Amino acid sequence: MLTASLTVDPAFVVGPVRRRTFGAFVEHLGRCVYTGIHDPDHPRADADGFREDVIELTRELGVSTVRYPGGNFVSGYRWEDGTGPVAERPARLDLAWHSMEPNTVGVDEFMRWAAKAGVEPMMAVNLGTRGVQEALDLLEYCNVPAGPAWAERRRANGTADPHRIRMWCLGNEMDGPWQVGHKTAEEYGRLAAETARAMRMMDPGLELVVCGSSGSAIATFGEWERIVLTETYEQVDYISAHAYYWEEDGDLASFLASAVDMDHFIDSVTATADAVRAAGKHTKTINISFDEWNVWYQHRAESQPPTGDDWPVAPVLLEDRYNVADAVVVGGLLISLLRHSDRVHAASLAQLVNVIAPIMTEPGGRSWKQTIFHPFALTSRFAQGDVLRLAIESPRIPTTKFGEVDAIDAVATHDPSTGEVVILAVNRSTTDELALEARLGGFRALRIVDSLTLSHPDHTWSATADDDSSVAPRPNTTTGIAHDRLHAVLPPVSWSVIRLAPADS
Ligand code: AHR
Repeated sequence: MLTASLTVDPAFVVGPVRRRTFGAFVEHLGRCVYTGIHDPDHPRADADGFREDVIELTRELGVSTVRYPGGNFVSGYRWEDGTGPVAERPARLDLAWHSMEPNTVGVDEFMRWAAKAGVEPMMAVNLGTRGVQEALDLLEYCNVPAGPAWAERRRANGTADPHRIRMWCLGNEMDGPWQVGHKTAEEYGRLAAETARAMRMMDPGLELVVCGSSGSAIATFGEWERIVLTETYEQVDYISAHAYYWEEDGDLASFLASAVDMDHFIDSVTATADAVRAAGKHTKTINISFDEWNVWYQHRAESQPPTGDDWPVAPVLLEDRYNVADAVVVGGLLISLLRHSDRVHAASLAQLVNVIAPIMTEPGGRSWKQTIFHPFALTSRFAQGDVLRLAIESPRIPTTKFGEVDAIDAVATHDPSTGEVVILAVNRSTTDELALEARLGGFRALRIVDSLTLSHPDHTWSATADDDSSVAPRPNTTTGIAHDRLHAVLPPVSWSVIRLAPADS
C-alpha cells in the first residue's frame, strides 16, 4: 500500500471557487441539439420541444454556463437562419461536420432552453466566414431592448425582452487549419480586436473571450497567444484554451496523470498573457476561459463525419462511451481547473449531451448518465467558498508521457461561511491502494459529512442505458477522523470526494 499526506490550511487560498468553472457546451453537432436537448416527439418533450429529462439531468450535473452554438459549427453559421417562423427557416450545409443543419433550433430557442435549465449562456460569434457587422447584428438582436431593426425582429419573433447575454466568444479555434475561415494570428488578432471594440460600443458591459490555442501541441501554441493578445489586450477579458489530448491509448499510467498536462497548458498561457501585459504596459489581467476540455477518443470511427453526398441531419457523431478510468481523469482535470482558480475564471466541459458528453439520450427514448457525469456533478455540488492549495507529500510513480508524477493529486475547498472543508483526490496508481492522511490543524474540530469514492475492479467498465448506476460513487467506509488527522484508503484508479463540517455544527 502507498502512503501520502496532505496539509490542508485555510490560509492557503488560491482564489474563490468560481461557478463558471462548471460550464458545459452545446454545439450544433451530431445529436447534441437534435434528439439531445431538443426532441419534440419525445414523451417528455415540453411545449418548446425540449426534453425535460435532459433538463433535469443538466440541473443535476450542476452546470453553470453553456457555450453555444459552436465549436467548429459556428465558423460557417448564419445566425439569422435560426430565427423567425420555423417552417420558413432554410436548411444549410454544415461544412464543419458534413451535416445538414435544419435550423429548427436557433438563438431564441436556445435561450428558452437555457432559462429552463438554469444556466448562463455563453454565445459565440462567427469570425470564420463573417465579421464585425454580423457580430453586431447578432448582439443587437440579443441585447438591445427595442428600436433598431434587429431588436425589433427579435420582438416580432416573440421575445419582447432582450436576452442580455453577457459572455461572448470571438469566434472558435481560429488557429486550427480545420476551421472554416482559419486565420493567421495577425489576421485573427486584428479582426477580433475590431469586433470586440465595436461590440463594446453597443454594449460596454460584455465579457469577451478571444480565441487562444486549440491545444498545447499545435505548432503555433504560445506565439498565437502572444500575437493575438498583443492585438486585443485592452479589448478582451479572457483568452480561451481548448484541449482534448487525453485518451487511454494503452498507457494507463500516463492517462491517469493527464492533469499534469492541463497544469502545464494553463501555466503556459498565464505566463504568456502576463508577458504581453508587461510588454504593453497594461495594468489589467487577462484570465483564461478553458472553454473546451474533456477526454475524447478522436480517432475512433464515431468521430469521423460523413462524406460525399451524404449530409444527414443530426448523425451519430463523437458519441464516446466513457469508462471508469475516463471518469477518474475527468475528476483529475477538474482538480487542475480548481487549483488554477486564480487565473481560470471559466471553463466548459465539451460537450453536454451525446457528443463527448456526460449525458446520453436515445431518440424518443431513455436518457442516462455516463461515468464522467459523477465527478463533475459532485465537484460542482460540493466545491464551495475558497480553493485551497495543498502541501502534498506523495510517492512518485513513473509515466511515459510526463515523467515521474505524484501518485496522489488533490485540491481542497473551504467555505468560511459554513466552515465546510471539501477534499477532492485522485489515486493515480494503476495497481496500489493509497493510504491518505490529511492534516487539518488549521481548522477547528471537523467531522465527516460524506466520503465518496468512484472506482471499479474493472477500470474499463462503462455505463449503458440499462445500467448507469453500478459505478456511481459509493461511501468510502475506510474514512475516519481523529483530532486533526483524517485517514482514508483510496483504491487504485479512483476519484474521491470527502466533505467535512465543523464538529459542533
Ligand atoms: O467539441 C468538438 C469540437 O472540438 C469543436 O467543434 C471544436 O471547437 C473542437 O475542435
